[in-house]
Amino acid sequence: MAHPDPHAALHARQPGAQTARLWRIWMPVGLIVTVAGVLWALLTAPMPPEPIAAALPPAPAAAAALPPVTIVQTENVAPCDSPEIAELLASGDDDAVVAAWGGGRAFRDAIVAGDADCISLNEPQRLWLVVNKRRSLEPQNYAPKPLAIPAAIREGDGDYLRADVTEALNQLSKAAQDAGHGEVVLGSGYRSHAVQVQNFQSHIDQFGIAEAEAQSARPGHSEHQTGLAADVLACESHCSGILDFGDTATGRWVADNGWRYGFIVRYDHGQQGITGYEPEPWHLRFVGKELARAYHEGGFTSLEKFFGLPDAPDYIDEW
Ligand code: DAL
Ligand code: ZN
Repeated sequence: MAHPDPHAALHARQPGAQTARLWRIWMPVGLIVTVAGVLWALLTAPMPPEPIAAALPPAPAAAAALPPVTIVQTENVAPCDSPEIAELLASGDDDAVVAAWGGGRAFRDAIVAGDADCISLNEPQRLWLVVNKRRSLEPQNYAPKPLAIPAAIREGDGDYLRADVTEALNQLSKAAQDAGHGEVVLGSGYRSHAVQVQNFQSHIDQFGIAEAEAQSARPGHSEHQTGLAADVLACESHCSGILDFGDTATGRWVADNGWRYGFIVRYDHGQQGITGYEPEPWHLRFVGKELARAYHEGGFTSLEKFFGLPDAPDYIDEW
């Protein structure tokens, strides 16, 4: 006789019992099949092409195009051996010569060091000319050209300047007015050798030879004969005299800013032992923007010191 299932009543009383039993049997099987399926899928799935490389930015084209590095021995060409400097010297564009040299400071340093054989401080047409009581103009009858009359002049013994200097003076005067000051007016510019003879003699007649020598250059020794020098005055509410220029607001502005336009105050305060002249804040010397900048930035107060020349307090010969 078969024994009754002791749990039958229980099973009969619980309708989900059959399902739970089946679940207990088949659940592990299902799990095994699922895991195996996932593993199979992972192992057999096609790999995406170069996924890491695809995520990186592309290599720069320039870097890819760089040629292999070749080290070449470069020769250090001295400025005087440079074809560019030679060409600019021949063209007469002196400011460009100084710029090509590496600027006013480099140019000045080369001259002081004796490394500038192609540059002569004696050539009267050059922006770097130095004429003083120990260095006369050659030739004595030198006359610059072309000349031009500045926008603002006061008729005197020299209404002209060299054309490039005239242009610079016009710019200086305009800048002074833009800064709220007066017009910078030419009182005396180019003076020929003959005019300087008269000028120097009139100083002797008025003040005697010693004072004349401190104020006026002997003929053949004046920057005015080169067309590079301008004696200026200031026209504010009224026009100053030349001698008053340094005490005007315009004169002070010019002393501080003239270098921006290529001018230096040639005969500065306290320099008589070097230049031989009493201070002349009105006597502007054009040297071009490159040299004027170096002069200003170097804090120079005489061209003699700027170019490393001997002091020139007096002439070798008696008058
Ligand atoms: N007054 C200046 C020095 C000249 O006569 O050139
Ligand atoms: Zn002067």
